[in-house]
This record gives sequence, C-alpha cells and structure tokens, in this order.
Amino acid sequence: MHPSFSGVIRQRESIKAKLAGIKNKIGVYSAKGGVGKTTVSVNLAVTLAKMGYSVGLLDADIDCPNVPMFMGIDERMDISHFPLKPLEKHGVKVASTAMIVDDAKKPIIWRGALIAKMLGDFFENTDWGNLDYLIIDLPPGTSDSPLSIMQLLDMRGFILVTTPARIAAVNSVRSGLMAKRLGKAVLGIVENMADENSGENAEYVSKALDSEILGRIGFDKKISTLEDKGLIPVLEDAEVFEEFESIAKRIS
Ligand SMILES: Nc1ncnc2c1ncn2[C@@H]1O[C@H](COP(=O)(O)OP(=O)(O)O)[C@@H](O)[C@H]1O
Ligand SMILES: [Mg+2]
Repeated sequence: MHPSFSGVIRQRESIKAKLAGIKNKIGVYSAKGGVGKTTVSVNLAVTLAKMGYSVGLLDADIDCPNVPMFMGIDERMDISHFPLKPLEKHGVKVASTAMIVDDAKKPIIWRGALIAKMLGDFFENTDWGNLDYLIIDLPPGTSDSPLSIMQLLDMRGFILVTTPARIAAVNSVRSGLMAKRLGKAVLGIVENMADENSGENAEYVSKALDSEILGRIGFDKKISTLEDKGLIPVLEDAEVFEEFESIAKRIS
C-alpha cells in the first residue's frame, strides 16, 4: 500500500474514534464560491440549536475561514492545551482555523499537502464531546481541500448549495458527482438567493443527482448586511428563520 494512503486510513480511523460522540456529521458544499455555503452552514447550525439540538459548527475552509466573522466571534481558541475546545456562541460550538492563527485577516498561501495536514490535525485534535449535529462548512473546488475532508471525515452526507444561476447549478452537479464518486450521500439541495422566477436550475440539479430540494432561501439584502456585522439572520428575521427551520426539519 502507498505510504501516504495508509496515513490517510490511519488518520481517518483516529478521527472517527475522536468524533464518535457526534450523531450526524453533515457537510455543506458546492464547488463554486460565493453561493452561500457559509451562510447556509451558520444559519442552519443556529436554527438546529434553536430547535433544541446540541450542535457544532466546523469551519473546514482553510483558505477563507469565514465562519467566525459570520458568527461574530473575535476570540481565539486556547491552543496551549490539547485537545482544542470549540468556543460556544448562540448555543453552537464553533471551531475554525481562523480562531487559532495569529492574524485571521492574513492570507493562507499553502500547497495542498500542507492544507491536508492542517485539516487532519485540526479534526484529530478538537474535542466536540457529544453532539446531535456537526455542520461542516466546506471550501469550494473539487480538488485538494474538499477531497481531504471527504476522505478524512465519516459523514452522514452533504447538503449542496446552489443559486438560480445556471453556472451555480452546473457546478453543484459537479460537486454532487464528486461526493457520490467518493461514496458519500447527497442529502439534498438548497437553492440560495432564490427569487420568484427561480427554481428551474435547482430542479436541474435535483434531477441530475436524483436528490430532493430541501428548501429555498430567498435573496434578501438583509442577509448580507447582517452577516457583515457578525449578526445571524435567523436570529434577527422571522422569515429567514422559517426558511431555515423548514430545511432543518427535513434533515432532522
Ligand atoms: N440569500 C441571500 N441573500 C442575500 N445575500 C446573501 C444570501 N446568501 C448569502 N449572501 C451573501 O453572499 C455572500 C457570499 O455568501 P457566503 O455564504 O460567504 O458564500 P460561500 O461560503 O459559498 O462563498 C456573502 O456576502 C453573504 O452575506
Ligand atoms: Mg464560505
């Protein structure tokens, strides 16, 4: 067996044992950037917590770790003790590499091998305890980072985020096919930034992947305005909460 492959298997087994107290590990994914992966991850996690579940939120985007900003978290994780403890905000346990680096605003310019190592070490050394849900915010792309995450984490499956744009739909299908090729389940599709004329491209993704549409989140300028301030749309706006609650109910 190739040594690097046996390394992945060893680490996957170790991570599996460390995360054994988590009932559902769900990735939020799209090969395309800017479609709302982080928005869906954060708001879904807070919605599930509001519904009474114990929830963790793992920022697996090493290049652009945006979860802390959207969650309004400025604090750093204590890295003087292992395993690392996620920080709690709005009833959700949150961990992000942005919460362990010196300056979260500086770019991380790393090759794939280093990113894979960072992800593996991060997953292996974070103590989530017992959780009903761990929501994992994935980076875009279909190569290094998402591949490492899919190989290292034993997940219930993925929620794919798409938008009314054809380009987002095409890339969502790509993302779903990648997940399926790696033996991962596609739990369903969220159409984000939807408007009254949309739906067609989400249907296209749904048919191509033989997976249901879990729900639609309307385009609403309030969402980006709130997120820019570190405020959580589902905690500020009843309509946005309803949209996320109906998605959360379909996966719970
Ligand atoms: N439904 C929506 N309506 C309006 N703005 C949105 C919506 N969803 C996301 N946004 C905004 O779009 C931008 C990209 O969203 P983000 O969640 O960071 O995408 P990704 O994680 O896929 O790159 C952010 O500024 C976010 O606030
Ligand atoms: Mg993101």
